Amino acid sequence: MDRVIIFDTTLRDGEQSPGASMNVAEKLHLAVQLEKLGADVIEAGFPAASPGDFEAVRAISQKVDNIQVAGLARTSKGDIDAAWGAIKEATNPRIHTFIATSDIHLEHKLRMSRDEVVQTAIESVKYAKAFTDNVEFSAEDASRSDWDYLCRVFEAVIEAGATTINIPDTVGYAMPGEFGELVAYVHEHTPNINKAVISVHCHNDLGLATANSFAGVNSGARQVEVTMNGIGERAGNTSLEEIAMTIQTRGGLLNLKTGINTKEIFPTSRLVSMVSGIVVQPNKAVVGANAFAHEAGIHQDGVLKNRMTYEIMDPEMIGLSSNRLVLGKHSGRHAFRDKLKSLGYDFNSEEIDRLFVKFKELADKRKEIFNEDVEALVGEEILRIPDIYQLRYLNVVSGTVTVPTATVRLLVKDEEHQSAEFGVGPIDAVFNTIAKLTKTNSKLVRFAVNSITGGMDAQGEVTVRLQEDGLVALGKGTDPDIITASAKAYINGLNRLEHLKENPAKNMDDINL
Ligand code: KIV
Ligand code: ZN
Repeated sequence: MDRVIIFDTTLRDGEQSPGASMNVAEKLHLAVQLEKLGADVIEAGFPAASPGDFEAVRAISQKVDNIQVAGLARTSKGDIDAAWGAIKEATNPRIHTFIATSDIHLEHKLRMSRDEVVQTAIESVKYAKAFTDNVEFSAEDASRSDWDYLCRVFEAVIEAGATTINIPDTVGYAMPGEFGELVAYVHEHTPNINKAVISVHCHNDLGLATANSFAGVNSGARQVEVTMNGIGERAGNTSLEEIAMTIQTRGGLLNLKTGINTKEIFPTSRLVSMVSGIVVQPNKAVVGANAFAHEAGIHQDGVLKNRMTYEIMDPEMIGLSSNRLVLGKHSGRHAFRDKLKSLGYDFNSEEIDRLFVKFKELADKRKEIFNEDVEALVGEEILRIPDIYQLRYLNVVSGTVTVPTATVRLLVKDEEHQSAEFGVGPIDAVFNTIAKLTKTNSKLVRFAVNSITGGMDAQGEVTVRLQEDGLVALGKGTDPDIITASAKAYINGLNRLEHLKENPAKNMDDINL
């Protein structure tokens, strides 16, 4: 069987999803999880984009060992220097440099001739090659480029030393048959193609990213660029889980394999959703909440008799455990630590202590604690940053005849402050009071509440997205009381906004691609 290289770009293209920016600690957690998942390469970021990106890529390069770490760079010496500076400590670093090759981009964006682009691409690959042998070159908007010109560019960059050549369908425009033919054309008409791995990188604007990637693989591509949950610019990228599980399920037909440990798919999907704030749609292939739910009576009957009737994958294969009931009020630290381990989380003892206190508080309120509850606690720990604002007390009055009023006491930079405000509803009253106490002026651009498990006493998980002065931050809070969960989420969002002000993440609008 042929091995397909899985190049994960959740931390780079995935992070280009609107509002998905992650901080360094979150990126590190995710990089470690992607290593555990068995991805071959992670694109850790775009180091020239911002000091925050540079630091994150460097921290990841220092942390992981069993995975290649790629840094993205435009075809400029400055970008390549930044990429190398950030990845040079990785065990196996890769410089990924790119320039557009379609006439649309050449005329309207780059304002360069075809010859100039070829020359620039050659010089950049040679420049990158002086740092490392592992150089990938991408022809942005390849699917809308002239095929012969594309082959000319690829021949030149392979000659200059590129070891992987990537064919992106940057705008998700290609159709599977057409994209397969393009990859086959590159294969046949690039004389030195045997010196490089062909890669495909597809966007999902027409919902064809996975189909296009497979069309590319059928024509000889042996690297697929993907993101977990398919997150990414606009409609996203090819989903890692769809590629990995299709190869796993239909490997016999395809004669292909990957190095993905499929049991880590679900934990990775949860982590990505947690840190990016992008909720997985329920009907999402492989990792959606309904992917293994059987609603129709005939289906339920069939599955009970034999799962094969309506299930093509075993849920346990993607790491969905059937053992959901886990802990209770009397569970000790040891059982709690073991449960964290079985869910795939490796925390140090200080982190476990903090989580255990929260677990006990929760266990006092709820009889049964499910895996999802433990994961919500983990999510709060991962999203934790040094808190400037902390909730000390909350009292809310609301009802059919009462004006909703909230009284909130907050610790603001080590000093307690208390105030009360009205609102159109209890949550509005809470947010108004918190905004007054923190003297902040952020705009609430998203509010979502989810039930973590089934049941009347389920915990509510609130996600907010806050915007202030062009910065966007995600906040999360969980509690059996959804008003308290909302207060926690809002405060978490404000803390993250403060953190962002001190460590500005990149603003993709400022980057001239
Ligand atoms: O979509 C695209 O073309 C890209 C390149 C930078 C590979 O993300
Ligand atoms: Zn892309």
